[in-house]
Amino acid sequence: MHEGVRLMCPVCGAELSEEPARLYCAKKGHSFDRARQGYINLLTVQNKHSLNPGDTKEMLAARRRFLDSGSYEPICLAAADTIKSFSPSASPVLVDVGCGEGYYTAFFKKYCNASCIGIDISKDGARMACSRDKDILWLVATASHLPLCSGSADALCAMFSLFQPGEYARVLKKGGCAVEVTVGNEHLIELKSIIYDEVFEQHKQFTPSGELFEEVSCAEHKFSLTLDNGRLRDLLLMTPHFWRIKKENREQLEATRELTLTVHYKIRTLIRK
Ligand SMILES: C[S@@+](CC[C@H](N)C(=O)[O-])C[C@H]1O[C@@H](n2cnc3c(N)ncnc32)[C@H](O)[C@@H]1O
Repeated sequence: MHEGVRLMCPVCGAELSEEPARLYCAKKGHSFDRARQGYINLLTVQNKHSLNPGDTKEMLAARRRFLDSGSYEPICLAAADTIKSFSPSASPVLVDVGCGEGYYTAFFKKYCNASCIGIDISKDGARMACSRDKDILWLVATASHLPLCSGSADALCAMFSLFQPGEYARVLKKGGCAVEVTVGNEHLIELKSIIYDEVFEQHKQFTPSGELFEEVSCAEHKFSLTLDNGRLRDLLLMTPHFWRIKKENREQLEATRELTLTVHYKIRTLIRK
């Protein structure tokens, strides 16, 4: 069972109890079975706006190959160090929202000595994440309605995923931290200039954090990454750029043997007031 983790029934809001094969609420008897691979689906029909929401199997497989190659390890380490330094507990309950196939979650668990909950709206994501670490609680759920009791988490992270200030503030304890990583303006600019005929600099801002958080750090980092053709293809496949690339630009990319890219990311930390 998962030490210190307090989950909330997505149907009635009561606290859930955990058994090896399921989660259930004693109040109204709602029950959620553990899938054979180990994840639990807590996404209700009201919160499921399409048949298979979130990233597809192909995107997730490309993401796994790409991340396992170590290309984004500096980002993973920077986020892990931030969680470790701002978490109010030395063995935190940590929620990774939009965890995808679980690369960052599994690293954070070991590095931060955390009890981890990985949440993604994609069932294929949760299914794939189970093979990373069986001791992490992998859940299918939405960021806008997290299946966690109010004030139950020490730390929360959103790695290139959504930031929902109200809901994240609800599940964090007072003094808990939210760590968000997002892309900077020059992220993968060299790849974008092959994909698009004209590249506009994107000034992506962090979502306003609202009055329930105090921003305690915000930083930008850049590094260079040289990728061979296979890793380039994986990088393209795991992003929405894949759907936008024209045939002639795809052919140019397929003929590119190696490309050096700028990785530009931003990381901010908020503390729950
Ligand atoms: C860009 S990917 C990042 C995945 C992972 N954090 C990483 O960096 O490898 C965004 C993830 O958010 C998930 N996602 C999209 N909408 C979501 C929502 N409403 N609630 C939870 N997850 C969501 C997608 O399925 C996808 O796995």
